[in-house]
Amino acid sequence: MSTVAIKDVTKIWPDGTTAVDRVSVDVNDGEFMVLLGPSGCGKSTILRMIAGLEDPTSGDILLNGEPVLNLAPRDRSIAMVFQDFALYPHMTVGENIGFPLKLSGVDSSPRGERVGDVASALGIGDVLARKPAQLSGGQRQRVAMGRAIVRRPGLFLMDEPLSNLDSGLRAELRAEITGLTRELGVTTMYVTHDQAEALTMADRVAILRKGVLQDVGTPTEVYGRPATLYVAAFLGAPRMNLLEASVYVHLDRYIALNLGEQALYLPWDDIRARAVAHYHGERIVVGMRAEALTPVAPDAPGDVLHGRIRYLEHHGHESLAFLDIGATAIVVDEMGGAVHDAAEGGALRRFGGALQRLTGRAERGGTGTKVRHGRDPERTSVLSDPGRHHRRPAELAVRLAPYPAVSPGHPLAISVRMDALHFFDERGDRIDVGWR
Ligand SMILES: Nc1ncnc2c1ncn2[C@@H]1O[C@H](COP(=O)(O)OP(=O)(O)O)[C@@H](O)[C@H]1O
Ligand SMILES: [Mg+2]
Repeated sequence: MSTVAIKDVTKIWPDGTTAVDRVSVDVNDGEFMVLLGPSGCGKSTILRMIAGLEDPTSGDILLNGEPVLNLAPRDRSIAMVFQDFALYPHMTVGENIGFPLKLSGVDSSPRGERVGDVASALGIGDVLARKPAQLSGGQRQRVAMGRAIVRRPGLFLMDEPLSNLDSGLRAELRAEITGLTRELGVTTMYVTHDQAEALTMADRVAILRKGVLQDVGTPTEVYGRPATLYVAAFLGAPRMNLLEASVYVHLDRYIALNLGEQALYLPWDDIRARAVAHYHGERIVVGMRAEALTPVAPDAPGDVLHGRIRYLEHHGHESLAFLDIGATAIVVDEMGGAVHDAAEGGALRRFGGALQRLTGRAERGGTGTKVRHGRDPERTSVLSDPGRHHRRPAELAVRLAPYPAVSPGHPLAISVRMDALHFFDERGDRIDVGWR
């Protein structure tokens, strides 16, 4: 039984790298919390600080409401499993699992009993006498988990424990891990860079980017209502379509979202119209997942976009069409690497810089009318972060039936579910439209 409270924790390495930047997260008793983010975003550093293997530069960490920064790792009732776990090669499976109990002086017979229980819960009860070299990768991973949980820790920390396994086994073990931790009722913090893993396993997900917490919520919440453009782009496959739109209010009639050559129209009485109307004359980002888009007849009425297929991707159970609709896409650069920007003749173009040019105004002051959530210190400087967003001709991802009888160049009409649109401002923050 354990709760974790991470309070405003920062970790700056001696070389000046800020690995974790004022992160606060609460984990409830028995909860399965996933820390999600690309490589280098600070996930392992957070786990290692909780385990006591690293000290935060500032901030506090509480277990069960008690500050633990002055406690040695062994006094924290925490077990940790790493990606590169090592088993003792000369010991049997049973001895490996029982080793932590032996160290803490548990006698041979109760030890054997607990090892047996854990091993059968993990489905490795029949290989207790084998040596690690005689096991499959999945079995070895189970032994490592068994060794971690045999002491019945209050808190279970797992750092990408499945990333060295092949994909079939990974899927199988996902369900086993969540099943086991729920059965034991042990609070778990699980680190992964794999958004699908996070969405399938988590009670709640905390999403990090460059050490900064972006969003925390249940998979349904963070997927359905992402707090930032970054979270919107990171979760889901295919990725959310993110289109630049200029907003034009036709008072008492509708709000036009001009996407370049085409537009979508929010009726004036739409519950979201008021929030979006604040951006009259400005550009925002409109997000639409593939599930909001349905192919329709070319002359279908309603909210329809027309495009031509640029290319197709076949995934067996479905095919994806990528359409040229004459709109501009915003590409969120999650890794900090460069993206080639075809729209600007090969020049890298910042989203913020482009907006500034188009709207003819500099960065918004801190006292503007928009709400600041304070989640991301970078939100005040999106405009000066060259690595963050790029613009390029949109390739609208649309789901089709498997192997459709269409080919590149084919025209396609797409009906848009207006109630499933996402709206983000120039900083990449969700525009709160007061619904859901
Ligand atoms: N011991 C260390 N000394 C200096 N920098 C480190 C150390 N460990 C990690 N870092 C840096 O801290 C940042 C976060 O690393 P890490 O927490 O390992 O990320 P993740 O687990 O999300 O991939 C990275 O920039 C990494 O290079
Ligand atoms: Mg890591």
